[in-house]
Amino acid sequence: MDFPLFHLDFFGNRLLIATIAIVHVLVNHALAVGFLPLVVLLEYLGFRKRRTEPALAAAWDDVVRRMMRVGFIVTTTVGAMTGVGIWLSASLVNPASLGSLIRVFYGAWFTEWIIFILEVVFIMIYFLTWRTAGESETAKVRHIRFGTALAVFSWLTMAIIVGILAFMMDTGSWTADKTFISGFVNPLYLPQLLFRTPLAMMMGGAFALLLLAFFARRTPAVRRPLVSFAALWLLVWTPMGAVGAAYYYSFIPDAMVGNLPTAVGTMAFMDWHSSLLTVMLVAVLLSVIIALWGYLAPRRLPGVVMVLPIIVLMVFLGSFERIREFIRKPYVVGDYMYANGLRVADYPLYRRDGLLAHATYVDTPAVTADNTVAAGRNVFMLACSRCHTVQGINSVITKFRDQSSDGRTLDPVAMKSYIPKMHNVWFYMPPFPGTEAELDALVEFIIHADRHPGESLPGAQDGGVAVAHEEVARADENRRGEGGTP
Ligand code: HEC
Repeated sequence: MDFPLFHLDFFGNRLLIATIAIVHVLVNHALAVGFLPLVVLLEYLGFRKRRTEPALAAAWDDVVRRMMRVGFIVTTTVGAMTGVGIWLSASLVNPASLGSLIRVFYGAWFTEWIIFILEVVFIMIYFLTWRTAGESETAKVRHIRFGTALAVFSWLTMAIIVGILAFMMDTGSWTADKTFISGFVNPLYLPQLLFRTPLAMMMGGAFALLLLAFFARRTPAVRRPLVSFAALWLLVWTPMGAVGAAYYYSFIPDAMVGNLPTAVGTMAFMDWHSSLLTVMLVAVLLSVIIALWGYLAPRRLPGVVMVLPIIVLMVFLGSFERIREFIRKPYVVGDYMYANGLRVADYPLYRRDGLLAHATYVDTPAVTADNTVAAGRNVFMLACSRCHTVQGINSVITKFRDQSSDGRTLDPVAMKSYIPKMHNVWFYMPPFPGTEAELDALVEFIIHADRHPGESLPGAQDGGVAVAHEEVARADENRRGEGGTP
């Protein structure tokens, strides 16, 4: 609670992070990790034909280069920007969790940044020297080597970040010994890496099929072998993806599996969970059938159909990421920090002294008779706003309205008895961290907000930041007077 809180009252903070992160993962997995090694391999296969079929080799090389141009542009723009965007959004939405993660993974991120910069240098060299590399065989061999290094480095950045993502789900023995190694080599690390790697490769193949639908249309002699090879690539990686998925699933802690039904749909669509899983399976099956078709009869595979695998795999990966983020709840860092940014270990302190007393940036260090709504607003900001808005998406008002018998009226008594139990009802919500008085204030605020639909909750970016030094000092004084520890 040492940060002023950014808040988006219509869009919701969760959605901000999710949107940027999911776009990033799609570009990273499909293009950087999966597509680059395939491009390099295709370049090499074309190069091998230079003596026997020079005309074909030249046309082949040209198609692969044009495919790489798309990979180059998208990864260095959308990919790189959303990568930075994750830092921006995560540090705005949950600075405390990012702060904790940096303390544990400083070395990992430092290494990852260096590798990332090298990756950018390599992709520049690889794409920008493509034409000149065609002038001599040695240059072409060097070019292919650069491409290989690029592919390896792309995978390495993912392999490092997955350590941190897996840590957030399951901290393993880190909670006991708090070392970097025990945090990085956590129980979910290898399973997640073994799932993401083949999935990324599958997506790379599917992305290549998409591009071939456009770039190889006019060169049937090249289209046939290229489509066939990209389809084969997709086919070969699919069983590994399936094994990886099963292996990964078997490592997910039971409590998280319990969150799955809400994660796949939302609360309203919980019963659809199994049918949504079926849809995801059917999607993957569809991409396999298309790949099989492309491999066996590339000439007959129409361009429109070649667009489908990447779409279904993107939907699949997008859903997977959403689910992964969701089932981790109520924690942002497993067993260590709740998604509201409050540390599990600090909860007893908040329950004893009040959440407000320990918040640096609030204008109400304690609940008093004449500040209940303002104090309740601050409690909401600290305890609920990372996941709920007041007037927008996943609005807390709507959630409480839905609980009432007529679906409209808020009942303060029911709310007061619900909030302290909410973490037992829905495991993904952290327990309420404050005192009785803060609970009353929170309920008062929600009821006030319900009656004033025009008043949305401004984040620190709009509402400014309050540092109530005097009031903090006075509250400390009071507590000391009462014999408590400041
Ligand atoms: C970690 C994120 C998170 C935090 C923090 C959080 N919630 Fe929730 N809450 C959710 C999600 C997710 C849902 C379900 C939304 C859906 O799928 O419709 C939910 C649902 C609810 C519901 C409806 C539950 C039901 O049984 O009908 C209420 C009421 C609610 N939250 C109140 C609160 C209050 C009050 C706070 C703060 C003290 C809070 N939540 C903090 C994530 C959170």
